[in-house]
Amino acid sequence: MLLIKNIGTLVTCNGIYWNELAILNNVAMLIDGDTINWIGKPVCISKNATLKTFDANNNVIIPGLIDCHTHLIFSGNRANEFFIRAKNKSYLDIANSGNGILNTMKSVRKSSKQELVNLALPRLKQMVKYGTTTIEAKSGYGLNINDELKILDVIKILNKSQDIDIEATFLGAHTIPPEYKHNKKHYIDIIISKMLPKVAKQKIARFCDIFIEKNAFNTEDAYKILNKAKTLGLQLKVHAEQFSHQGGAYLAAKIGSISASHLEFINDADIKVLSQNDVVAEILPISQTYLGIKNSPPTRELIDAGTKISIATDFNPGSSMCNNIQLALRLAIVNNKLSCEQALLGVTKNAAYSLRRNDIGQIKIGSKADFCILNTNNLLELFSDWTQNPILTVFKNGQIIHYL
Ligand code: NIG
Ligand code: FE
Repeated sequence: MLLIKNIGTLVTCNGIYWNELAILNNVAMLIDGDTINWIGKPVCISKNATLKTFDANNNVIIPGLIDCHTHLIFSGNRANEFFIRAKNKSYLDIANSGNGILNTMKSVRKSSKQELVNLALPRLKQMVKYGTTTIEAKSGYGLNINDELKILDVIKILNKSQDIDIEATFLGAHTIPPEYKHNKKHYIDIIISKMLPKVAKQKIARFCDIFIEKNAFNTEDAYKILNKAKTLGLQLKVHAEQFSHQGGAYLAAKIGSISASHLEFINDADIKVLSQNDVVAEILPISQTYLGIKNSPPTRELIDAGTKISIATDFNPGSSMCNNIQLALRLAIVNNKLSCEQALLGVTKNAAYSLRRNDIGQIKIGSKADFCILNTNNLLELFSDWTQNPILTVFKNGQIIHYL
């Protein structure tokens, strides 16, 4: 048992309402192995010489942050695309000229598993420093059966060999690979008849995602792929309405997707149908800003309709070369008009819901002991201070994984 004492502010994110941070002041917390065992006033603890203690020095504790949408596994870089976009080319122009996702695909196909592991490890280390304790990571840069499985295997290896929990998502339908440039139907057949059954059989991913966009997949393609994934027991996620309105959000809601990402171009009917079907709106403020997308997901309207909003980095080499979940949180406040409370819930409780995990994202009895101690006694500095990283100590499953 480990006692965390002198907690000035415990941000539990365990309120009855979805918009409540549920803060407790001047409390202590007992950790039993990897689980939170007790939270309460320190006077209630009997003197016990054998109890290990950790002094939080009256600072703030928040749940370990959850990055529920990343494309962590990649090699190569796409710095030139950032340069070209600054000269007025768009993300879709670059994709249409055969670059973009396909550039990363070429590099990833050449990389060995070990190379991909070695590239991902320092990225994960960096994420821990920002307070991230769980992430989701997608395949989608292999675009053939062997290389998609290679990426998912890399995720599996990383999950076992380092501290952050990684939830794997199969994204074979990220874009159409060059081999099937003129025969998209054939690639979809391969996804449905070869890739998905293998992924499901090997239990190497919990989720199946798809990119619905003009130069990628349409809703008809998506229906076929997602339906097959659902039959095989995978849970569904969708990249929808990032650059244009294609009907992806509506499909996500009707087919039972647990989340829909991006949503810059959704309309009023989408807002209604997302809330009616409890689809989490996964907003990605860094990629919106990184690509200079003028539209913003209508977060206020989504929240008013009762939709839960999660926030993620969308970490990837093309549209968000940034794995700082704190930046995503802060941009969600200033660019996407979330309150500070809603934004923090977006990277904790609601992000856990985006991954259908009920054992993380909140500080409560029975939850995993994943939490961060900040170097301040004022929670508001987490939102307002953009100069320094306020994370002092990170606990994952009851163990310290980062300490300043
Ligand atoms: O979520 N939009 C599609 N997929 C990624 C970008 C991937 C890439 O450009 O490499 C995204 O933004
Ligand atoms: Fe993405």
